[in-house]
Amino acid sequence: MSFVEVATTDELRDSSMIMAKVNGHEILLARVDDNYYSADNRCPHMGGNLSQGTLEGTVVTCPRHHSQFDLADGHVIRWTDFSGIKKSIGKLFKSPRPLKTYQVKVEGEKVLVDL
Ligand code: FES
Repeated sequence: MSFVEVATTDELRDSSMIMAKVNGHEILLARVDDNYYSADNRCPHMGGNLSQGTLEGTVVTCPRHHSQFDLADGHVIRWTDFSGIKKSIGKLFKSPRPLKTYQVKVEGEKVLVDL
C-alpha cells in the first residue's frame, strides 16, 4: 500500500465527487466540509458508477438501484431500493456488501489516496 496522487484540491468543490483512474482502477473521491473521502467507484451491488450518483453529507447513493453507503467507512445504509419479493430474491443472489474505502491525505494542493 502506498499513497498515490489522484487529484488536486481545486478539482473538487465542497460536497462534490469525482472519479479518478489509477492503474486502470476507478476510484471515487469526495469532498465534504473540507474532508476528503475515497472508495471504489463501482457499486458492490452490480457495478453502478457511484460518481454519477448523488452525495448527501458523506452518504453516496448509487444511480442504478439506489443503494446507499457511508463514505466514512463504507458501511451499507440501504441495499437497493427493491421491495417485497424482489428485495428477498435480490438479497439471495447479492447479499449486502460494504463499499471498500481508502485512506486519504492532503499535501499542499495534492490529494493522495492509499491504494
Ligand atoms: S448497482 Fe448500485 S444499487 Fe445496484
